[in-house]
Amino acid sequence: MEDVEGVRFIRADITRPGIEAKVAAFLNEIGRPRFGAIISDAMSRTTGHHELDHSSSYMIGESVMHLCQPFLATNGNVLVKQFQGDMTPGFKRKWEGDFAFSKIVKPRASRGTSSEVYILFKGYRRLVV
Ligand SMILES: C[S@@+](CC[C@H](N)C(=O)[O-])C[C@H]1O[C@@H](n2cnc3c(N)ncnc32)[C@H](O)[C@@H]1O
Repeated sequence: MEDVEGVRFIRADITRPGIEAKVAAFLNEIGRPRFGAIISDAMSRTTGHHELDHSSSYMIGESVMHLCQPFLATNGNVLVKQFQGDMTPGFKRKWEGDFAFSKIVKPRASRGTSSEVYILFKGYRRLVV
């Protein structure tokens, strides 16, 4: 990947356990305990099969949300992509208790014909400070 000023790339699969050590090492290097926001546009290659694309986006979203526990600061925010389907309301319900506010959003930049949405969670309530 080309360098982008002020951006640090970590090339890793966020569904695999090794990601936590890599992110922790990066935070340690920059002297920060956690992130103020976690934004995920991650999605596996789409198949055009709605149920499959919905399920794989759900699974990636689950990995993103699990990363919040060690790495998201108190009052931090998360934006996570999902191909909308029947598990989307349950996904939001599952995680919204950890946050002060949550909402399913469809940015203007996202094609109207796509089932892609983003789930916004704001104000992370850390259980362990
Ligand atoms: C829609 S693209 C994101 C495009 C990006 N926002 C951009 O502007 O370049 C989805 C990306 O998620 C990545 N991805 C899919 N599954 C992943 C995973 N398990 N871990 C990390 N990245 C993943 C894919 O490699 C792909 O680059």
